Order: sequence, then structure tokens, then C-alpha cells
Amino acid sequence: MIISIANPKGGVGKTTLTVNLATTLISKYPDTRILELDLQRSSSLWAGYRTERGITPEIPVSTVSSVKQIPEVTAPYRDNPRALLLVDCGGIDSDFNRSAMSISDLVIIPTRPSQVEVYALTRALSVIKALGKTGYVLNNGSFPASISKLTDLAEYVSDMDGYKLLNTVVRLRADFQDAYGAGMSVIEYNRNSKAAEEIAALAKEIQRLLKGVKRG
Ligand SMILES: Nc1ncnc2c1ncn2[C@@H]1O[C@H](COP(=O)(O)OP(=O)(O)OP(=O)(O)O)[C@@H](O)[C@H]1O
Ligand SMILES: [Mg+2]
Repeated sequence: MIISIANPKGGVGKTTLTVNLATTLISKYPDTRILELDLQRSSSLWAGYRTERGITPEIPVSTVSSVKQIPEVTAPYRDNPRALLLVDCGGIDSDFNRSAMSISDLVIIPTRPSQVEVYALTRALSVIKALGKTGYVLNNGSFPASISKLTDLAEYVSDMDGYKLLNTVVRLRADFQDAYGAGMSVIEYNRNSKAAEEIAALAKEIQRLLKGVKRG
């Protein structure tokens, strides 16, 4: 199975989600790998901290230097219900990202629920549609107590054909930043935290969606 995590807007939490989901979903998909398309290499950096500290399981991260290499890295994960490739996309509208998204079973679009990010969703829609995909929008970055922003985003997404809103909401929490710096997922960092609860709920929701894909 292949999941792309993409957004044309930078800094919306793509890498943070990718590393947390990889570390959580590896218990269900023992062959889990990250494909990092972002030149900043933040997923590779996190995996490096992890290896340096001897934290297991190790999460393998692949990078590519040309679009031609993408089929080679993705092939073992296509139509394979036991293996999972999480693609940390560097944006949306490049040959690299389109190539990975076009063969993904699921495209997740994390967004913060503010106007500037919502505007980026509008721009991304044509790419998602051209690829024949549904973009699963994740509210990733509401303030811990905010309610109104959640309904605003839900209304916006329900008006946009081509997007669906995920039920899980991931909020702004210091644990996400601290866990990244420690080379861990938020569940490994503090399994009783709210952040851990959110990632566990998101992983479950994603598994349900992937089961739907398998059934066709
Ligand atoms: N849920 C969260 N709570 C608090 N901070 C977060 C959360 N998600 C991400 N961050 C922080 O926001 C910043 C951007 O996150 P991240 O690097 O994951 O985003 P990105 O979309 O991958 O960015 P880029 O476009 O630069 O690759 C980082 O400092 C990260 O620690
Ligand atoms: Mg990133």
C-alpha cells in the first residue's frame, strides 16, 4: 500500500505526520518505509537521530534523485497489503509528487485550519482532480481548545468536490516537536499524551480506509 502526504504549502506538518504514522503503522505493516521527496530531508534526519540512539524499530527512508527512480522504490509496495510506503511529498505540483501520488492508495493533505492554508487547498485541487484522486484533508494544527476553526474547515471541505475531511483532528502540541527531536513518535515519547491519542486514532482511521481500498 502507498500513502502520500502532500500539500503545496510548506510547514503544515507533512514530515511530522509521516514519521509518526510510519512508527505507529509498522506494527501492522512490518515492511514499512518512508520515501522522502522533500529536498530538506527532514524525515531522513529524524531517522538518523533514531539510529544514533539505537531506537527500534528502525524506519528505513529512501530518497530519489530522478523521477525515473520512483517506480523502482514504489514497486514492492503497489497492491501489496502487507507492506506500506509513506511518501513525504515536497509540495504537490512537481513531477516527483505527481508521480508518487498517481500510484498512491491514499492521498492525505494535512492542513492548518487558517485562511492562508485553506487557500492552498483550493490551488491543489486541480492537481488532485487531474490525478483522479480524492484528497483526504486532515485538520492538523488547531489550537488545543479551538472549536470554531474545526467547523469552518469542515464546511469548506464539504463544498469542495475532490476532498473529504478525515474525522481525526491533530492539534498543536509540544509533544510533536519534542518527539521529533528525540527521533521518536509521540506514542514512543509519551504513550499517555493527547498527541499519542491523536496519532493512534489517525492510524486507525487510515487502516479502515486502506481496507476499503483493498476490497476495491
Ligand atoms: N501537531 C503539531 N503540533 C505542534 N507542532 C507541530 C505539529 N506538527 C508540526 N509541527 C511543527 O511545525 C513545523 C513544521 O512541521 P513539519 O516540518 O512536519 O511540516 P512540513 O509540512 O513537513 O514542512 P516542510 O514543508 O518544510 O517540509 C515543525 O517545527 C514541527 O515541529
Ligand atoms: Mg517536511
